[in-house]
Amino acid sequence: MVIERTPLEDELGDVLDKALQHAGLTATSLAERAQVNLSKIRDAIDYRYDLNGGELSRLSRVLGLNEVGFCALAGGNYPLPEILGLPFCLFPLRMPHGIGVANAYVVADCSKQTGLLFDAGSTPAALRRVWPTRIRQIEAAFITHPETEHMGGLSEVREFFGAPPVFAPRGGQVAGATAVSDGTILEFSGFSVEVLATPGHVEAHNSYVVRSRTAASGPGLLLSGDLFFAGSIGGAFFCREKLKSSLRRLFNRLPPETVVAPGHGPLTTVGHELRYNPFVAF
Ligand SMILES: [Fe+2]
Repeated sequence: MVIERTPLEDELGDVLDKALQHAGLTATSLAERAQVNLSKIRDAIDYRYDLNGGELSRLSRVLGLNEVGFCALAGGNYPLPEILGLPFCLFPLRMPHGIGVANAYVVADCSKQTGLLFDAGSTPAALRRVWPTRIRQIEAAFITHPETEHMGGLSEVREFFGAPPVFAPRGGQVAGATAVSDGTILEFSGFSVEVLATPGHVEAHNSYVVRSRTAASGPGLLLSGDLFFAGSIGGAFFCREKLKSSLRRLFNRLPPETVVAPGHGPLTTVGHELRYNPFVAF
């Protein structure tokens, strides 16, 4: 399996913008508190960067961000971990959507042609273009949250694979899907999938933890949807407080070696994001 180094979902400007909202501050009040020129902050939010180390440090402190990760992001060198030891094959499916890229994933026993699908990409055509040739059947599909970029290819999956069961968050109104609630554990051949309700980005949002039922060791895999990414978090379109408490809950309960497959950007691990993610400074 090859895991490519895909770009981060968010850069410094996005992180500053989200951090301002979470801190309940305006750019003006941040400038006063952090003693940083207001125009420099506004420029940074517009992706024009001219902030020095001292200014970045003060901004991260006022915004309650992880300073190491925030400064690394500002320097364009946010670290990413090696992804090692997963006891199954993981196929990241990266599909263009607007100006960005949305991820879906297939998880499969490396000796089999059947897998589980997590999210369904932006469009049927996009999903077809990146589909792993080895995977001939889907045992079930899971939707993290009902946004087009994450379920636009679902009709294709249903048509092509003989309507496998689809599981989606409660309240997500995904036609034909079974709503699954927090704490549910579903068993498949070789895998268990634990459902964790993680509202915040949107109200109906699930994350899923996949574990091997046959391997004696190896980390689990968290499909985090748009709750968080390597180096950032999803926009809190539903509720900032709920997003924070969903994050806190996941990071408190999952072991650090857990591999994270987010809805955008590269793979990471729970331990790595605990160490560097600007927003995971609990
Ligand atoms: Fe998304």
